[in-house]
Amino acid sequence: MNGLTHGIRIVAKKHAGSPDDAGPAGAGSAAPFVPETRSVRTLAAAAQQCRGCDLYKNATQVVFGAGPSTASVMFVGEQPGDQEDRQGEPFVGPAGALLDKALEDAGIPRAHVYVTNAVKHFKWEPRGKRRLHVKPNAAEIHACRPWLDAEIEAVRPEVIVCLGSTAAQVFFGRSFRLTKSRGVLEEGHPWARRILATFHPSAVLRMKGGDDHEYTRARRAFPLDLAGAASLVKFASERALRRPRRRAAAL
Ligand code: URA
Repeated sequence: MNGLTHGIRIVAKKHAGSPDDAGPAGAGSAAPFVPETRSVRTLAAAAQQCRGCDLYKNATQVVFGAGPSTASVMFVGEQPGDQEDRQGEPFVGPAGALLDKALEDAGIPRAHVYVTNAVKHFKWEPRGKRRLHVKPNAAEIHACRPWLDAEIEAVRPEVIVCLGSTAAQVFFGRSFRLTKSRGVLEEGHPWARRILATFHPSAVLRMKGGDDHEYTRARRAFPLDLAGAASLVKFASERALRRPRRRAAAL
């Protein structure tokens, strides 16, 4: 069934899995490092030892996902940036500040969502004193995939929001184009009831220096996409967070 909910287009798809599941020839894998558990905390601790690809060599630490394991909505970005690498938390730098603002605009409390990345180590190259972000390649994204699969299995979100095309291509294959499919809520995937791809906040920030109209449009559309995705779920974590207060009130 295709339809329109809260201004968001819903498209039902039949998917057996990502078209890129096999991965590029010779790609490594995090699989031997991923423990059999549904505990995000245990996964996060094990990920610190991951040597599934070479990215660990230049990174300060693994940046694992963060947020309640009961979250109904999972956000998936590309890879940690400079600040995230230093602090060990996803989306805490400039892109995270814009994500926070967009979540606030959309009425979504960040504390109630799970935020992670397709790749868990920061890939960078030196430029003077700065560490410049380098896009992870297909082999690195493939190698890191078992961590994302384990997080999805542990959190079991109702909705996955892909921030940018790297995350979207993990689920929809490398032919996915954000320009064509941004803001479309897809159903019928094995990972979550619904998956939506929207802008990466860094991409929105980069628009700032260019065409004013493009930036304004993206800045408005970004929280609307988030609100559309979140309007279809009940925040289980919200209920869970309220529970202790209700119990305290009853005493
Ligand atoms: N960009 C990402 O994709 N993820 C982060 O955690 C930070 C910046």
